[in-house]
Amino acid sequence: MSKRVLITGATGYIGSHTIVELIKAGYEVTGVDNFSNSSPAVLEGIAKIVGKEIDFVETDCTDYENFAKVFEKYPDIGAAIHFAASKAVGESVEKPLLYYRNNLGSLINLIELMRTKAAGANIVFSSSCTVYGQPGPEHLPLTEQAPIQPAHSPYGKTKQMCEDILRDSVHAYGNVNVTSLRYFNPIGAHPTALIGELPNGVPQNLVPYITQTAAGIRECLNVFGDDYNTPDGSCIRDYIYVCDLARAHVKAVDRLLEKGERFEVFNLGTGKGLSVLELIHAFIKATGRDLPYKIVGRRAGDVEQVWANPSKANEILGWKAETPIEDVLRSAWRWQQNCC
Ligand code: UD1
Repeated sequence: MSKRVLITGATGYIGSHTIVELIKAGYEVTGVDNFSNSSPAVLEGIAKIVGKEIDFVETDCTDYENFAKVFEKYPDIGAAIHFAASKAVGESVEKPLLYYRNNLGSLINLIELMRTKAAGANIVFSSSCTVYGQPGPEHLPLTEQAPIQPAHSPYGKTKQMCEDILRDSVHAYGNVNVTSLRYFNPIGAHPTALIGELPNGVPQNLVPYITQTAAGIRECLNVFGDDYNTPDGSCIRDYIYVCDLARAHVKAVDRLLEKGERFEVFNLGTGKGLSVLELIHAFIKATGRDLPYKIVGRRAGDVEQVWANPSKANEILGWKAETPIEDVLRSAWRWQQNCC
């Protein structure tokens, strides 16, 4: 079986970190991206880290004809990791058709193009813990058996629908094998600070907002609610280091190519929940930076608390999130200072 892996969304946040880990592990990589939410400069960052330029094609995965050319150019693609998707929850409410077109269309094209090839469609899919909604307390920490609940946004629905599309394709076609990775909250940046998360405009996610506030770009961090039913009243999440997460993708590809399991799902988190206020104080402690913040009202659509039981990934993938939160937050801060 070929050791070339196609990475869609190659210049995105998780895609770029995963490419670094795949190359370190000895894989050949072909990256594709349409730069809709990233920049070609990310390719330079990756090249500096791995010491060579990666094979890359600028293409939109929803454009079937152009996407097909990638497979003609690289006939030895043996597996794909599918990151390419739109991911802003708020934007998805305003532009649902964009989300359905991008997120469903690109996946359908990928399956169609791969399943007719000799290697078949070995696909690792970038999913999210958002598929579980707000789990009842009896389901925390979350295992893969927790019920899937109706999603609150078109973005969340696309993740659920994509998993359905993949499951149905596995069922219908003999040569489609899938691993769906449900991420909790990826944060941090590569230790070299050459790649990291580059939010478009005002960050929606917590850690980029924290680092931009510490850098003086934003005046004050708003903490969305301190009246939740949690020990300090703020929401709880499972923050996972993006490089640890990237390594899980390598393990998932290894397993998919070796074992050819038809359809597997893994929760990828640390197993530890941290509140927004705990994360803020961890950042201040780790970096020594001042971080002005104030409590404001709840953000619409937020779930109260969610964290992973990562035992299945620990045991079956032989993978564990191991980087201490202070190191992770320092990496995010280094990246903030380096990126802009
Ligand atoms: C969100 C999405 C999730 C998506 C992920 C990555 C929802 C419900 N979930 O996760 O599906 O995969 O982004 O894009 O939208 N917070 C503040 N102040 C801020 C920003 C955030 O207090 O300025 C709080 C939030 O209320 C939340 C926590 O920080 O409690 C984490 O927020 P965020 O980083 O946006 O991630 P999620 O909402 O968990």
